[in-house]
Amino acid sequence: MELTEPPAPGFRGPHRPRGRARPERSAAIAENTAESAHAVRVGRIKPCRLIRLEQHIDPRGSLSVVESEMTVDFAIKRVYYMHGQSESSPPRGLHGHRTLEQLVIAVHGGFSISLDDGFQSTTYRLEEPGAGLYIGPMVWRVLKDFAPDSVALVLASRHYEESDYYRDYDTFLRDAWSLT
Ligand code: TYD
Repeated sequence: MELTEPPAPGFRGPHRPRGRARPERSAAIAENTAESAHAVRVGRIKPCRLIRLEQHIDPRGSLSVVESEMTVDFAIKRVYYMHGQSESSPPRGLHGHRTLEQLVIAVHGGFSISLDDGFQSTTYRLEEPGAGLYIGPMVWRVLKDFAPDSVALVLASRHYEESDYYRDYDTFLRDAWSLT
């Protein structure tokens, strides 16, 4: 697994021991939102971050879990996935959202996501299905460098609305810079 950021201090790992009660909602979110002290903070409305998913691993394989309003603090209204990319595919994304929140998971293969809030930028490499990248509002994102047969799963807080998109980087920057 190659995550750009190491696990946060105090992170106890993705496994919930068998028989243990489900954590309280607030505790689950607090654990998941802890960030590395060294991480570049992108996202002035809500910081982007890696979220380690609850995983259940046994001799049959692995099972990873995302729960609406628990793993992420938004209600999941839409699911889509991108596939069929290759190493030579052009980048995807190249847009920002006014309000949309998303969790992006490399459920197979791997790819890089560059994030830019108009002030700070960073790149994450997602290549294991046990972690997702939370991307909040007002963040320009570019998905690139896809490994063959990658599948990028996206869980989104809103239905598809073209009016929520910034497709033009200069317009995005103008509005991003106007955020206090
Ligand atoms: P596009 O926004 O270009 O994809 P990317 O995430 O790579 O930037 O979307 C490709 C097409 O799919 C475009 O015509 C819009 C359409 N689309 C939907 O109809 N519904 C959706 O939920 C999404 C994400 C895209």
